[in-house]
Amino acid sequence: MQTLSDPHRLHQLVRQWHQAGERVAFVPTMGNLHDGHIELVHQAHARADRVVTSIFVNPMQFGPGEDLDAYPRTLEADKQRLFDAGCDLLFTPETELLYPSGLNQQTFVEVPGLSDLHCGASRPGHFRGVATIVCKLFNLVQPDIACFGEKDYQQLAVLRAMVRDLNMPVEVIGIPTVREADGLAMSSRNGYLSEQERTVAPELKRTLDITAQALKALGVDTRAELEAQAEARLAKHGFKPDFIRICHGDTLAPAQPGDTRLVILAAAQLGRARLIDNLTVDLTE
Ligand code: PAF
Repeated sequence: MQTLSDPHRLHQLVRQWHQAGERVAFVPTMGNLHDGHIELVHQAHARADRVVTSIFVNPMQFGPGEDLDAYPRTLEADKQRLFDAGCDLLFTPETELLYPSGLNQQTFVEVPGLSDLHCGASRPGHFRGVATIVCKLFNLVQPDIACFGEKDYQQLAVLRAMVRDLNMPVEVIGIPTVREADGLAMSSRNGYLSEQERTVAPELKRTLDITAQALKALGVDTRAELEAQAEARLAKHGFKPDFIRICHGDTLAPAQPGDTRLVILAAAQLGRARLIDNLTVDLTE
């Protein structure tokens, strides 16, 4: 596996692969890799001849007071994991390459509507930062496909909309969430949990499961009640719930009677960690 921060060398390599008729998959990350990321690399491999992974902690997607400085940086361990997973190329761009004039003078990509809901309302500017960096990385890497985890459901929806609206020649693929044995979705931010908080953290997924069962039994008309009950359950377990929302699976608008493909989105603070998770629910099943 090669590690490159030079975009010209990256471009040369990817061009060689494309000229040889090879399909290139891309897995963008912010590093501190866990089994969820490694699953993205495996799934990318299953769909392409070459896999490029990037590691870049993107300052544009962090708000004031968020964990940009504390975000775990574990490059040597990450390299080993990517090598073991069969990644062909690790791209580790410098901040100066991506934001040469600083963040305030940076052209950005904004996906309207979707970016303002849910996590976007709690973290203003977050999805602008995500869309902008992923657009820049797509331009640098020029992949045929790109794999993202479904844990970040809203991020995936925003990126699909960006690719569609800007006619980007990249196929975006969502990969199911990888979970710990007790159900907790894998996340770099799980490392912020204390031992005691870690025992409580799986209640987020349990709350989603309970809400999904109730939704199937009682129907979308009870949405507001179910959301309130789910938030109360989380608070009882020591979370500070940001939201639990029962939404249309594509538009992420509040679910309406007659909608069948739904997603329950959850975000909650537990100690220092902001945890997110989601569960899709098909009411036709
Ligand atoms: O999901 C992430 O790790 C980040 O949001 C991404 C897609 C790598 C953009 O910085």
